[in-house]
Amino acid sequence: MPKFDISFCDQSVAIVTGGESGIGKATALRLAQAGVPVVMTFYADKATADAVVATILQAGGKAITAQTDVGQEAQIEALFARAEEHFGPVDLLVNSAGLNMSGVMIQDMELAQFDRLLRADLYGPFLTCRRLVRGLDKAGRGGRIVNISSIHERAPRAGGVDYDAAKGGLAQLTATLALELAPRRIAVNGVAPGMILTPMNQGALDNPQALRAKEAAIPWGRAGTPEEVADLIAFLLSPAADYITGTTVIIDGALSLTVAQGA
Ligand SMILES: NC(=O)c1ccc[n+]([C@@H]2O[C@H](COP(=O)([O-])OP(=O)(O)OC[C@H]3O[C@@H](n4cnc5c(N)ncnc54)[C@H](O)[C@@H]3O)[C@@H](O)[C@H]2O)c1
Repeated sequence: MPKFDISFCDQSVAIVTGGESGIGKATALRLAQAGVPVVMTFYADKATADAVVATILQAGGKAITAQTDVGQEAQIEALFARAEEHFGPVDLLVNSAGLNMSGVMIQDMELAQFDRLLRADLYGPFLTCRRLVRGLDKAGRGGRIVNISSIHERAPRAGGVDYDAAKGGLAQLTATLALELAPRRIAVNGVAPGMILTPMNQGALDNPQALRAKEAAIPWGRAGTPEEVADLIAFLLSPAADYITGTTVIIDGALSLTVAQGA
């Protein structure tokens, strides 16, 4: 059960990328529970995406899936066309699809790896944001965007040149769009999670000892859940957050504040 009620405009329609897993999945469920029709993308895992939609429909909500590689322009066009055909103009967008850092040091990193990660984590949000704005222009409406970044948009890790560059770029894409789109009443915010228990942290989920070791580094003493991030995203998308744009909300149990401690 959600911890608080949240309400949306009757005409709102959401696209959530990466809806078959982790934060995207929790967000699709949270928005549908609040009465918003949701179009959730999946990349490979059709079975899980279908199961999420079945859960939403069973609870009386509205949702469909769309297989989408977010880094491919034609597939983003097809995604929005499918969404508009089913539910009408899309005014809410959550960019959650993404790949994690490769762990490869720069001297060994193939351009293809850098390209693959940037396509998913940075080109994807560029393409979806652009298409959302074009659709809202036609519909003559405002809207709201949440881009899921990471605390690594600022805090670098060795072996993360692909991910950290993409998330750093996403932070500036978010800020720039917020400025550009404010006069059109399109709000653009970022959410920067720390360690969240999703398949992106499968190693820790599968190994309680490794999980405890990682959680010991988090001042709050535990990792976060996808549902906690989804609650934050739902709030930022809602009319209650009307005056919030151009900011990134960190949700990390103070992990990012531990930089430069201990030595
Ligand atoms: N889990 C964490 O600890 C954490 C921390 C910081 C940031 N994030 C960010 O949150 C977002 C969601 O991550 P998550 O933890 O839910 O991970 P996840 O791996 O559970 O979900 C990510 C989803 O994105 C999909 N995806 C990957 N490349 C894609 C592409 N090119 N096109 C379409 N879909 C694609 C994957 O198939 C997967 O379903 C990501 O952007 C991630 O970088 C996660």
